[in-house]
Amino acid sequence: MKQKITHYLNKKSILLFSFIIAATHLSAQTITIPITTENSMLLLQTDSNNRLMNVYFGKPLENENEFATVSAGYNYDYSNQGIYNSAYTPSGTWNLSEPAIQVKHADGNTSLELKYVSHKIEKIDANSAITSVVLKDPVYPFEVTLFYKVWIKENVIEQWTEIKHNEKKAVLLQKYASANLFFGGKDFYLTSFQGEYLKEMQPVETKLVQGIRALDTKLGTRAMLTQTPNFMVSFGKPASENEGSVMLGQLAWSSNFKLEFEIDSNKNLRLIAGINPFASEYSLAPNEIFKTPSLIYALSNHGTGEASRNLHDWARKYRLLDGQGERLTLLNNWEATYFDFDENKLKDLFKDAKDLGVDMFLLDDGWFGNKYPRNNDVAGLGDWQENKKKLPSGIGYLVKEAKKEGVKFGIWIEPEMVNPKSELYEKHLDWVIRQPERPEIYYRNQLVLDLSNPEVQDFVFGIVDDLFVKNPELAFIKWDCNATIYNAYSTYLNKKGLPQSNLYVDYTRGLYKVLQRIRAKYPKVPMMLCSGGGGRGEYEFLKYFTEFWPTDDTEPLERIFVQWDYSYFFPAISTCNHVTDWGKQPLKFRVDVASMGKLGFDIVASKLNPEDKTFCKQAISNYNSFKDIVWHGDMYRLVNPHENNIAALMYVNPTKTKAVVFNYLVNNRFNITATERPVVLNGLDPKKKYTVKEINLFPGTTSPIASDKVYTGDFLMKAGINPNVSLKRTSVVLEINEVQ
Ligand code: DGJ
Repeated sequence: MKQKITHYLNKKSILLFSFIIAATHLSAQTITIPITTENSMLLLQTDSNNRLMNVYFGKPLENENEFATVSAGYNYDYSNQGIYNSAYTPSGTWNLSEPAIQVKHADGNTSLELKYVSHKIEKIDANSAITSVVLKDPVYPFEVTLFYKVWIKENVIEQWTEIKHNEKKAVLLQKYASANLFFGGKDFYLTSFQGEYLKEMQPVETKLVQGIRALDTKLGTRAMLTQTPNFMVSFGKPASENEGSVMLGQLAWSSNFKLEFEIDSNKNLRLIAGINPFASEYSLAPNEIFKTPSLIYALSNHGTGEASRNLHDWARKYRLLDGQGERLTLLNNWEATYFDFDENKLKDLFKDAKDLGVDMFLLDDGWFGNKYPRNNDVAGLGDWQENKKKLPSGIGYLVKEAKKEGVKFGIWIEPEMVNPKSELYEKHLDWVIRQPERPEIYYRNQLVLDLSNPEVQDFVFGIVDDLFVKNPELAFIKWDCNATIYNAYSTYLNKKGLPQSNLYVDYTRGLYKVLQRIRAKYPKVPMMLCSGGGGRGEYEFLKYFTEFWPTDDTEPLERIFVQWDYSYFFPAISTCNHVTDWGKQPLKFRVDVASMGKLGFDIVASKLNPEDKTFCKQAISNYNSFKDIVWHGDMYRLVNPHENNIAALMYVNPTKTKAVVFNYLVNNRFNITATERPVVLNGLDPKKKYTVKEINLFPGTTSPIASDKVYTGDFLMKAGINPNVSLKRTSVVLEINEVQ
């Protein structure tokens, strides 16, 4: 199948390229443009007015000569109010439905029409290609190019748009979506993920009914705290794990976004996704290109499990920084010390890190600020010099001391922020986002720096650069962000004569510029993206970060749900899970849960009792033996904690010779003595034979699971195996190994 499609793409590239020439002259001719992956096809087609329409979305059609006839099968009302399937719906002319783009031309006119001009396919390699389609306004020198990038094998599509014009003055972009899709059919189910601090990523599945359901955020920074840009659409019936057609999507933009799902009067689904137009009319100068963020989506006809695995593969190979590389296990001091530490305390923690067997010690918040020492969260942010009282010998000394213990050293920063109690605020009030005439409004006692200002970009880059220049052996950065933008106002934009409504976009682009500079100089050093909880973490940011912090909520029962829900969109290698003292679950439960991702600890290891310590060390050593499967293998969600008393999830290596299965009790309402039925495994080879061995056993306990019994993959994937989860065994980790 793969080969066939690849070949097909080659043939089409040549064929479709010839359309570019033909199309400019023969505008009345129907142009059909297929965007194809292994299991899906999106067909674009020009209509009799030479407008570009979405005419098909579904399983790939095999015969090219039938593509053009798809639309003939529909008898929708084609008067203007009935046209819902534009590939990029303009406004102010014929369209009366929700637009993808809305503009005010340089002369104040608000009408826009977009007609097909040309398209081309650029083949990148055997697995990926970019189709771009140029649309132009016949009256104004205004142009939009739609981009569709496909990864054939992973069934992932990335869509974005470039907008430019050659008018006499700036054009005001009032709405500028990344993508405008259309799905024929009926019964669409949308799962969105809402949240708030400590309650991130809560799924809500609803059947879409006529009208528009909009998901958006206006928080500016840490934008996805209350509403994430991740969503699932299930076609025909509610989403399920192993069957059915689904789309897992995300708007990859680190600030305000808006996703609009509209069931039109024919019960078809329109999706318009992009930057949130809220307070964001963007002034676009002549000949400047406005590139929108991307809508990224994975498609599957076999349920959310396959879609997630494909998305994970895609992310690891093509998106996440160092997605196919290694990660560092760590001991973090945040919950162990909060702001209260000094060199000696830290040196003891280095020993703890070494003793536990993790790779690195991570120094969290509180290491900086002198005039306004960072001894709590009201002061010091912005003053990135070591606090002389706590750390008289500086960071360099700590890096060396950690090295002596045999552990690497990483450090926390929150470079986009400032406390009003700081030297930075005193010196550079003009760098702070705030309304000059209004009282300041704080989130965690802090304000956001104006990254639309290149001087602020230099400052933020300088914080990271300075740390690395002074400490070349610094191994890791945790980049935090704990405030939203209130009182959105930029002194810089004002000085430049640019509208304030550029701020959200220019802030975000400024931040990307900083990250690009950091990555140009320090291409691979691991960096964790954190946001006082899961207020960040999407695939534009993850071009620059190796991992992200899904939530401050480390209560392990809650984490099972949160990690489960993040797992739809992100591979385990990208999610940082730390063992802390939150919750009532035993240490084993906490360590097992944190092992389903990138493992870290945020506890006072020296205070662990001997059994806990022994367990931790053994579990870290076990983790080191299976982490490669969790990080780089295929994930199968087996038992959904939202619907059952237990959760079960497994990871399988690519050759299907090894797997690790995690099982947890998530509900003890009925005094469970042991799970009644087996957990049916997935992803193994039915023909291979396997043993199942329980690992991460707490000292002094034994397993009821016979480790010498041999099962076929067929049996494990049909009949399954009972992990015997119970009130006494609330978490059970099983290692599956092929036997010859
Ligand atoms: C919020 C983060 O989520 C925590 O892990 C910690 O780094 C604090 N910020 C520090 O202020």
